[in-house]
Amino acid sequence: MPSYVVLLGPPGAGKGTQAERISDELGLAHISSGDIFRENLKNQTELGKKAQGYMNRGELVPDDLTIEMIKDRLQRDDCKAGALLDGFPRTPAQAEALGKMLAEWNGKVDCVPYISVPAEELITRLCGRWTCRAQGHVYHEKFNPSKKPGVCDVDGSELYQRDDDKKETVERRISVYLEQTSPLIEYYKKLGVLAEIDGTLPIDQVTSLMLKALKKG
Ligand code: AP5
Repeated sequence: MPSYVVLLGPPGAGKGTQAERISDELGLAHISSGDIFRENLKNQTELGKKAQGYMNRGELVPDDLTIEMIKDRLQRDDCKAGALLDGFPRTPAQAEALGKMLAEWNGKVDCVPYISVPAEELITRLCGRWTCRAQGHVYHEKFNPSKKPGVCDVDGSELYQRDDDKKETVERRISVYLEQTSPLIEYYKKLGVLAEIDGTLPIDQVTSLMLKALKKG
C-alpha cells in the first residue's frame, strides 16, 4: 500500500530542509507545493500567472487550483509508492480533499510530523535563507551555510533569496499560517497521526526525531 506523509509547520520551520534529507531514506517522492508553484511562475504557465499575486503577497493560492495541481502530481509514476508532502495541505478544505483522493487510491495519511518553531525564530530563518536556483536546495547564511558563498554544494548552481522572504511578506505568511493552516494541527491530532517535533533543535537532531516518529507511525 502506498505511504503518505504530510509535513506540517509554519513558514521557515524546516519542512523543505527535512524533506530533502528524509525523502530518499523513506523511498518517497518529495512533493513541495511551493516548488511546483515557483516552477510554474518561472515558466509563466497559466497556473503560474494565476498564483503569482497570491504568492507575492504571502497569501495562499485558492484551494481549487492547489488541490487540482496536487492531485495531478500525485498521479505520476514517481508517487506509486506514496509521497512526502511538503506545504500541502494548508487549509481544512485541502486536508479533506487529500483524504478523499487518497481513499480513492486505497491510501491514507499515515503520519504528520509537525515541526514547531516560535514566530521570532521563523523571521530570522527566512530572512537569512538562500535557495538554489536549479533544484531548490536550501541554505541559511548562519545556521546552514553553503561551502562556497552563493553557490549550491549539491549542483553548483547560483543561490538566490526568494521574493517572499522579505520581512513584511514573511510576517504576512506567518499570520496566514496561524489563521488558515494551524487548525490542521488539531485536525490531524484527532486522526491520531500527528507527531510534534521540536524544530528549534539543530537540523541533524530534527532529522533523527522525524525518522524516529516516522518509523513508529
Ligand atoms: P512554500 O514554498 O511552501 O513556503 P512555506 O511553507 O512558507 O515554507 P518555506 O519553504 O518558506 O519554509 P520551510 O518550512 O520549507 O523551511 P526551510 O526548510 O526552507 O510556499 C510559498 C507560497 O506558495 C505560499 O506563501 C503560497 O502562496 C503558495 N502555496 C504553497 N503551497 C500552498 C498550498 N498548499 N495552498 C495554497 N498556497 C500554497 O528552512 C527555512 C530556513 O531555516 C532555511 O534557511 C534553513 O536552512 C533554516 N533551517 C531549517 N531548519 C533549521 C534548524 N533546525 N535550525 C536552524 N535553521 C534551520
